Amino acid sequence: MVSALVFASASYAASAPSSLQPPGWDRDLKLREAPDLNPDPHIVEIDLDARIARVEVAPGVRADAWTYNGGIPGPLIRVHVGDRLIVHFTNHLPQPTTVHWHGIRVPIQMDGVPDVSQPAVQPGGAFTYDFVVPDAGLYWYHPHVMSAAQVGFGLSGALLVEDSAEQVGVADETVIVLSDIGIDAHGQLDSPDSGGSTGMAFGREGGYVLVNGKVKPRLVARSGAPQRWRIVNAAKSRFFQIDLDGQKIIRIGGDGGLLARPVTLDALVLAPGERADVVVAPKLKPGSELEILSFPFNRGYGSVEYRSAEPLMTLAIDDEPPYQGVVAPTTQRAIEPISTAGATPVNIEFTLVQRPDGTFEYGINGSPFAKGKPISARPGETQVWTIVNKTKWSHPFHLHGFFFQVLDAEGKHVEPLEWKDTVNVPLEQTVKVVVRYDDRAGSWMFHCHILDHADGGLMGTVDLGVPHVEHSGHTH
Ligand code: C2O
Ligand code: CU
Repeated sequence: MVSALVFASASYAASAPSSLQPPGWDRDLKLREAPDLNPDPHIVEIDLDARIARVEVAPGVRADAWTYNGGIPGPLIRVHVGDRLIVHFTNHLPQPTTVHWHGIRVPIQMDGVPDVSQPAVQPGGAFTYDFVVPDAGLYWYHPHVMSAAQVGFGLSGALLVEDSAEQVGVADETVIVLSDIGIDAHGQLDSPDSGGSTGMAFGREGGYVLVNGKVKPRLVARSGAPQRWRIVNAAKSRFFQIDLDGQKIIRIGGDGGLLARPVTLDALVLAPGERADVVVAPKLKPGSELEILSFPFNRGYGSVEYRSAEPLMTLAIDDEPPYQGVVAPTTQRAIEPISTAGATPVNIEFTLVQRPDGTFEYGINGSPFAKGKPISARPGETQVWTIVNKTKWSHPFHLHGFFFQVLDAEGKHVEPLEWKDTVNVPLEQTVKVVVRYDDRAGSWMFHCHILDHADGGLMGTVDLGVPHVEHSGHTH
C-alpha cells in the first residue's frame, strides 16, 4: 500500500506536482479575482470600475480609498498566454483616469496614456480595453493620469498571464502585491502634495506597508516545502528588500516571465514597478513563526537614515514534520540576446534642478517632460540606451510597450538573460539597456516609476514612426 502511493506520486511528479502546503495556507493573501463573463475559453472578459470605497487595512485603520472594484489591490486578472482580454472599464472617481497595462506589449491604442492612447476617461465615463496578452508573466495595471496621487490612493492590481507549458514543479503558488498607503489618525488619506517640492524630489511613501491590501497578513506553511511567490511592487515610491532571515530565495523569473535559468539570492530587491517570480522553502522548527521583513534599501538621501526593517507578513510553520524533498527548480528558458551590433546609441541623463524659487524639477537631459523632445525610433531598429543618473536618488526606469535586456558597463548582457520593462538606475550610477522595436507604431512613454518623480518631470517618449508600406500594386 505504502509503496503503491510512493510510486503513484513519483509518476505524477513530472507533470502535475501536488500541493505540499496545509489546506488554506494562503487564505489570508488570496486576492479577489475578476469573474470571466465570456464563455469562450480563449477570451477573458471582465468588468472593472474605479470608485471610492471604504477599506480596512488593519484592525481599526480605515479610509475612503480609491479602488478598482471596491478593494485594495484591485481584482487579480488571470489569463492564459495568447488569450484576448476585454476589460469594460467605468470611472466613478471624481477625476479623469485611464488604465495602463504595465509590461504588456499592447498596441498603443490600449496603452492607457491620456491623449496618446485615448482621451482620459472622465468621471462617469467608460472605455473598453481589448487586446491579446502575448507573453506569460506577472504584470499589473494602474492609472496613468496623476499617477502618483491615484496609485498612492490605492489604484493598482495584478494581471497574471499563465502558461500551462511552464514546468516549475511547484504546486503552491500565491500572488503578492506589495504597496503602501498614507492614512492619518482621522482616517484621511495623505495629501499627494505632502512635503511640497522636497517630498516630490524624494518620492512620497505611505505609512502603512500593505501585502495584498493588508498590514501583516499571515501565511501558513509546512517547514521545508516549496512555495512559489509571484510578487509585484505596486508602491508609488517605496523599494522592498526582502530577506528571509538566512533562508534562500530562488528567483526563477522577473518582469517578462522566466529567466534563462534560476538564481539563488540572499535578499530580493524590488524597485517600484518590478516583478519577481521566486521559489522559497523556509526550513524552520514546526510550530514556529518567522516575521518576513523588508530592510531599508538605499535609494538615496532619506531612505535609510533613521529607518528600520518593516514587517511584511508572518510566516507560521505548521506542526507537520519538515518536508524532506529536494527544492531546486531547474526552469530553463531559451532567451536570445538582442545583438548590439549596429545598434543606435541613445544617451539620456536623469536631471534634477532647483529653480530660483527653491522648488525642484526633474527632467531628461535637462528638460522636464512637458518641454522634452522625443527620441525617435524605427520599426525593427535596435537601440542601446545609456542612462546616466547623476542625481542623489535612484530612479527605476520603465519603458512602455517593449521589453529590454540589461547590459553591463562593457556592453555585455547581464546573466542570466531576462526580459525587463523596469530597471533601477541607482543614484550616481549609469545603466545600459538594449531594446529592439517591432512595428507597433506610436508614442511610447518612458519614465521613472517613482511616480512622484515621473509627475515631477522625469518622463519622456519614444516616437516609433508608422512603418513605411511599399506600394507594390494589388495582390489577390
Ligand atoms: Cu507602470 Cu507608465 O507605468
Ligand atoms: Cu525617480
